[in-house]
Order: sequence, then structure tokens, then C-alpha cells
Amino acid sequence: MNFFLETLKVLVLSIYFLLESLVLLFVPVRKKSVAGEIVLITGAGSGIGRLLALKFARLGVTLVLWDINQEGNKETSKLARENGAVRVHAYLCDCSKRQEIYRVADQVKKEVGDVSILINNAGVVTGKKFIDSPDSLVEKTMEVNTMAHFWTCKAFLPAMMASNHGHLVSIASSAGLIGVNGLADYCASKFAAVGFAEAVGLEMLALGKTGIKTTIVCPYFINTGMFDGCKTKWPCLLPILDSNYAAEKIVSAIQREQVLLLMPRSLYFLCFLKSILPVKMGILLGDYAGAFHFMDHFRGRVKKD
Ligand SMILES: NC(=O)c1ccc[n+]([C@@H]2O[C@H](COP(=O)([O-])OP(=O)(O)OC[C@H]3O[C@@H](n4cnc5c(N)ncnc54)[C@H](O)[C@@H]3O)[C@@H](O)[C@H]2O)c1
Repeated sequence: MNFFLETLKVLVLSIYFLLESLVLLFVPVRKKSVAGEIVLITGAGSGIGRLLALKFARLGVTLVLWDINQEGNKETSKLARENGAVRVHAYLCDCSKRQEIYRVADQVKKEVGDVSILINNAGVVTGKKFIDSPDSLVEKTMEVNTMAHFWTCKAFLPAMMASNHGHLVSIASSAGLIGVNGLADYCASKFAAVGFAEAVGLEMLALGKTGIKTTIVCPYFINTGMFDGCKTKWPCLLPILDSNYAAEKIVSAIQREQVLLLMPRSLYFLCFLKSILPVKMGILLGDYAGAFHFMDHFRGRVKKD
């Protein structure tokens, strides 16, 4: 195709896609059925992972639950069954260990089958200034929040590609889009998770594997306990999200094959501003939004005795 024709095609399609997204603001896309899918959720032993399991439990899927916390994972299994799930398989898996991910993934393939919806949700946070963060915790953050996504995709993506059917879901964070004071290693891990998910999604498109969908989730603080103590400066602009609401939005985004989900909605505007404003103005607005002090009172999840 020559330059003129290709440019014209891009312009026409751009206008079409803009109009389409405007229409979709008012007419939501229909939710796809996930009945019969094998859904693997990492970090299913508490918080968002558990709530996702409970919401998928009602949708006729086979659940595969991974967590390093066996007790929490067993409890999620029990609750999922009470919520209507018929097939629930819980596995102990330390997602910071590549070989363990591969070993448990093989076990899942033998005992349950090929995973068709992979939700990388397990996450950890150090909660210290970078300079005070022990190296071991920085490494753990990268291993769980980023590298685990590589290894789970390596394990489960080939079967999805063979059948041209599947869905990769990355539970990242707004800290994967905007840097936050006091969350350097966490931000690095989440920026990487976002970049990885976006690039793999493109790789699938370029290979013609249009049956493999990607959903990248970037929430602000959620009241699961992971960020206990953290404060939001302007709740009207950036409210701390209710975990049940967040999980509901995530399941709905998966069913609507939404590529990017930011929560709350004001994040779409903040990210847009970040990309167009001069850096100094961005910092001024970041300070105004509270990004310098979000982590000042961080306690994190208090471990039970
Ligand atoms: N809570 C928030 O404010 C918030 C905001 C944005 C993004 N997120 C992200 O959402 C995801 C879920 O967070 P949450 O709030 O439910 O936290 P959570 O602490 O309640 O749940 C995280 C789960 O991951 C598991 N996990 C930790 N290390 C693991 C490992 N090595 N192997 C396997 N499992 C492991 C934990 O046992 C736990 O069950 C995380 O990726 C987190 O970074 C959370």
C-alpha cells in the first residue's frame, strides 16, 4: 500500500475507533460467558484474589487457586464452594520461585487441564523508603510482582496459543503508571508488570492470536489490608477503593475483554495530564494529589499470631 492510502486508512479507522469508544461510554459491551473456563488466580488466599475467586465461583468456571499461604487458600476454597463453585483446586505455590511455578503449573496441567484465564494477582509491598529497603525484600518484590508473571505466562500461554483462546489478566497498580514516594521497588515492579502485559498482548495480536485477550488492572489503594495505614489526601478525587467493588469491576472488565482498567476513574484523567504536562507541573499536581505523603503512615497487613 502506498503512503497516501495507508495514511488515509489510519485516519478513517482512527475516527471510527474514537466514535466507537464514545458510543461504548453509554452502551456497555456485553459480558462474555466464562462458564467452562479454567481460571487460575495467584495470591488467592486473601484480599482481591479471594474476592475474585468468590465472584468467579458463581460463573460456572473451574477454579485453580495458588497462594503461599496454605490456610488462607484453603479458606478461599471453602468459601468458593459455598458460593457455588463445583470444581476448586487449591495449590501451595511460592510465586517468587521460578522452578516452583513450573512444577505446580505441570501439576495443574495434569490434574485439572489447560488454564484459559490466568490472573496474576499475588503481590507484596516493602513499604519502606528505597534506601532503607533490605535487598532481599526488593528482590522478593520483583520476583512476586513481576517475574512470576513471566513464568506463569511461559507455563500457560503455549496451550492458549495452540487453541487461540485465553485471557491474561495482570493485577498491577496505579503505582505502575505514576511514581509514588516511598514505593520505589513496588512502582518498579508494577511498571514492569504493566509493560510486560502490554507487550505480550501486542505479541499475540502480531501473531494473529486474536483469541487471546489481555486485561491490565491498575487500581489506587484498596481496603484489603495490604496498604493499611496509608492515607488519601482528597478522598473526593482519589477515594480508597472498597475491595468488593474493585473485585466486581475486575471480573466485569475480564468479561467485557477490557484491555485497561484504572480505578477510580479520575486516574484516567491524571495519567492523561501526566503525559502532556511539563514535568514541573506534573510534580506540583502530584504533590497536590498527595503522592509525596501517601506512604507516611504505612503499616501494611498486620500478621496474626
Ligand atoms: N490493596 C491495594 O491497595 C492494592 C492497590 C493496587 C494494586 N494492588 C495489587 O493487587 C494485588 C492483590 O493485593 P491485595 O490487596 O489483595 O493484597 P493481599 O495481601 O490481601 O493479597 C496478596 C496475596 O498474595 C499472596 N502472596 C504473597 N506472596 C506470595 C508468593 N510469593 N507466592 C504466592 N502468593 C503470594 C499473599 O499470601 C496474599 O494472599 C497485588 O498484586 C497488589 O499489588 C493492591
